[in-house]
Parts: sequence; structure tokens; C-alpha cells
Amino acid sequence: MYTIFRPLIFIFSPETAHHIVKWLLCMARRVPMAKYFLRQLYGYNHPSLPREVFGLRFRNPIGMAAGFDKNAEVFDVLGCFGFSFVEIGSVTPQPQPGNPKPRVFRLPKDRALINRMGINNAGAQRVARNLKRRRNVIVGGNISKNTATPKEHAASDYVRVFTELYDYVDYFALNVSCPNVKDLTSLQQYNSLRTIVEVVTTQRKQQAVYKPVLLKLSPDLSAAQIEETLSLVSEYGIDGLIVANTTTLREGLQTPAADVEAIGDGGLSGAPLLENTINMVRRISTLTKGQLPIIGAGGVMQASDAVRLLKAGASLVQVYTGFIYNGPGFVKRILKAIK
Ligand SMILES: Cc1cc2nc3c(=O)[nH]c(=O)nc-3n(C[C@H](O)[C@H](O)[C@H](O)COP(=O)(O)O)c2cc1C
Repeated sequence: MYTIFRPLIFIFSPETAHHIVKWLLCMARRVPMAKYFLRQLYGYNHPSLPREVFGLRFRNPIGMAAGFDKNAEVFDVLGCFGFSFVEIGSVTPQPQPGNPKPRVFRLPKDRALINRMGINNAGAQRVARNLKRRRNVIVGGNISKNTATPKEHAASDYVRVFTELYDYVDYFALNVSCPNVKDLTSLQQYNSLRTIVEVVTTQRKQQAVYKPVLLKLSPDLSAAQIEETLSLVSEYGIDGLIVANTTTLREGLQTPAADVEAIGDGGLSGAPLLENTINMVRRISTLTKGQLPIIGAGGVMQASDAVRLLKAGASLVQVYTGFIYNGPGFVKRILKAIK
């Protein structure tokens, strides 16, 4: 059905299409029994699928990556499409509009997207309110700093969102890898990252309930940067890694170079990321002797891609661009392949 529906959706700009889909998802919540029928159509359960990762019980290993449900508006409806977890955000302390439009672009020849959204979101207080909705999925809170906050004060932004959302999410992902916010990826440098991880994990010690904290990495990190990051992970008891965010690289694309150049800056997601994601997951899994939970994200466009990521050492897999290109039946197809 999506092969008919997709060309209609793709008539609209990617961001308008996203708003339409989100509106439809919100409508589904209001129609009696709609969520039940969606679950019947797109949900999939099998005894081989559940797994326990960083102390949480996932009913299957597939989740929605950050950026789709930035303000925690539709995570419960997404749960009807087979996802066992949804990572909301990225959320910053204050609301912010993000970059000027247009800021999302399709590269259909590459089954990819380029986005420079710039972490547009409604801010931590508003998102915390939205998270009070009844849950049918595990919810991760992906947190970041406001664009206007100088790099030197980044840690206090992370702690503010962390504290604001603490009671409402099941785990946290520290986004230090978004290429569309000035200075953000530089937070992955050892000293900056150390400060952020230290203040967040110290804050966690003051909470009554333990919540896992993950780091979301850039796919563009060097081998040396990955090793430095892993030393911080073990020093501060980080519970896992998300491997990875979008890339600033543009190598090997089928889309003509002039078209890609005309789009300009932004993070590339989708099919071109897959091989790097698999290699990075495998390398980190080997370095950590399979002891550190890894969420593989980047380039899962067909069911076999998710299977390859799990075989490379990922405990869980997230999708975003693959869901846009494949439609609502995508997760069910992946889950059947994993079974
Ligand atoms: C339009 C768009 C917005 C995104 N926004 C965020 C974000 O706010 N925070 C974040 O950590 N990742 C964000 N991402 C990155 C995704 O979570 C994911 O890491 C990346 O797209 C690779 O996965 P994919 O190839 O399955 O899309 C965004 C991706 C896209 C396409």
C-alpha cells in the first residue's frame, strides 16, 4: 500500500510530509480502536524477539531513532508500528526554532536524506508534559544543549534537561554528535565530553531510581577518538553507545555532485551510512569484548541490514530514514527477518 501512498507523500517537501504524517498519527490516537487495528496490522511478537539491555526489557530490538518525535507527541502511536522503543528529542533546556527552512532534503537515488534541522524543539518543560502520556513503548530521552549556549556552558544545559526529564524517560542519550549545531560535534573532544559525562553521572547519583545513560556518537570519529571515548565510558559507568548519528561526508553518492553541493551543509542519513555503521559497531564491540551495549543506527533500509547490525554486535537497532522510505510495514518486516 505504501508504494501507492509514498509518491503522494513525496509530492510535499520532506518537512511538510513529516508534519502531515505526524498529524495523521495524532489523529489515529483520537479514533476509537485505531491504535488496536494498527497494532494488529503492523505489530509483530515472537518469543525469540524480547531482550534485556542495560537493565531494560525490550519486547524486540527495533526502535525509532531520535529526530522523528522531537517533542514526544506521537511515541505511543509509533509503538503500534512494531517499535519496542522510541527515542524522543533531541531536547534542549529552552525551546528553539532550529535552522531556516528548507532544511531537509531527499536523495531518492541514494535512498538518503540530508538534514540541517538544527535541533528545533519545544524545550524540556513542554516535552516533560507531553511525556506524561500513557506508555506502550520504552522511551529514551535524547538531550542536547541550546544552540545559543556557549560550548563552555554546555554541561549545565545537559544537566538541566536531564533533571527535567528524569522522571519521564526510561533511558537517556547524550547527543554530542549532531553536525547541524555549531560546536556540537566538538563536544566529543575528550575534555568537553569528560565534563558533560561527569556532571550528568554525578546528577544521576542523586536520583532515587537508576536510569541508563548512553552516548550518541558521530560516524565521523577517528579510531583514536573512539578509544578515548571508550575510556570515558568505562571511567564514568556510561551504560551504552548509540552508533551513530548522521555524517557530514558525501562520498560515493549516486546523486549528481552538483545537486548535492546545491543542498549545502547537513547530516546525511540512510543507505550510504550502512557499511560504516556496521564497521563501527563491530570495532567497538570487539574493543569492549561485547560487554558494552550498542544501539546500531544508520543506513538500515531493508530487513537484512538490521540483521547484519545485530550480527556485528549491536544489542538493539534504530531506524529513521528507512521508515520514511519503506513505510509503516518496515518494522514488521525487520522483526520477521530477525526471528
Ligand atoms: C530529519 C532528521 C532529524 C534528526 N534529528 C536528530 C536529533 O534531533 N537528534 C539526534 O540525536 N539525531 C537526529 N537524527 C539522526 C537519527 O537519529 C539517526 O541517528 C540518523 O538519521 C541515522 O539513522 P538512519 O540512517 O536510519 O536515518 C535526525 C535524522 C534525521 C533524518
